[in-house]
Amino acid sequence: MTKPRVTETNVGIQEEMTVAVFDQFARDMRDKGWNGVEDMIATGINGGELLEIGPGPGYVGLEVAKQLGNVTLTGCEISPAMIRLARNNAESYRIPATYVEGNAMDMPLPDESFDNVISNGSLHEWEDPVRVFDEIDRVLRPGGRYCITDLRRDAALWKKWFVYLSTKPKAMRPGLLTSLHASYTIQEVQVLLQKSTLKTAYVKSDFFGLSIWGAK
Ligand SMILES: C[S@@+](CC[C@H](N)C(=O)[O-])C[C@H]1O[C@@H](n2cnc3c(N)ncnc32)[C@H](O)[C@@H]1O
Repeated sequence: MTKPRVTETNVGIQEEMTVAVFDQFARDMRDKGWNGVEDMIATGINGGELLEIGPGPGYVGLEVAKQLGNVTLTGCEISPAMIRLARNNAESYRIPATYVEGNAMDMPLPDESFDNVISNGSLHEWEDPVRVFDEIDRVLRPGGRYCITDLRRDAALWKKWFVYLSTKPKAMRPGLLTSLHASYTIQEVQVLLQKSTLKTAYVKSDFFGLSIWGAK
């Protein structure tokens, strides 16, 4: 039976040392192809004005932008330390991204201003996911597409162990566990989505995570 959810942080990843270690981890996930980019593109994320929620070091949005090629990238991130890192990484990618400091529950962004919204590994940190889903609905243009990927608590134990032992650097392993314990089950996500204005949401499980996607 899946254990009850244990909340993690609702202020994002703030501390400089943790941010630096997270950068190494996120780069390793990118290099392994485990950061949701392929899944996002497969669900129909197709370019234009793209918003990434909780970009952290930015690799997910930067990789989507690099692969699609026709993207204007904006990130909404609660942690100033992560924003500094994402700006540096965007420079290395030579992609002109804009990162704004803000809480995904109340984004400082205009209504109907994005064609696509993506997010990876951030959902389990949102204090009120329904408010974030409603915000995604607000900032998307009609017909705009979204894809949210994250860990899931109801993954098989052996898969959790596999991911835990594959996590590099090792200093990230305790953080991976707290994130797993804070993540949602497929069923919990479905209940949250029913409370949101965000419609046509599909939810599927993958190897050790989940994806939520649809069009406004
Ligand atoms: C686990 S990291 C994932 C980072 C990145 N998306 C990736 O896949 O490597 C979660 C990110 O979401 C940010 N975050 C958490 N809660 C947030 C919120 N309410 N609004 C905006 N960003 C948030 C954190 O600061 C952190 O950078």
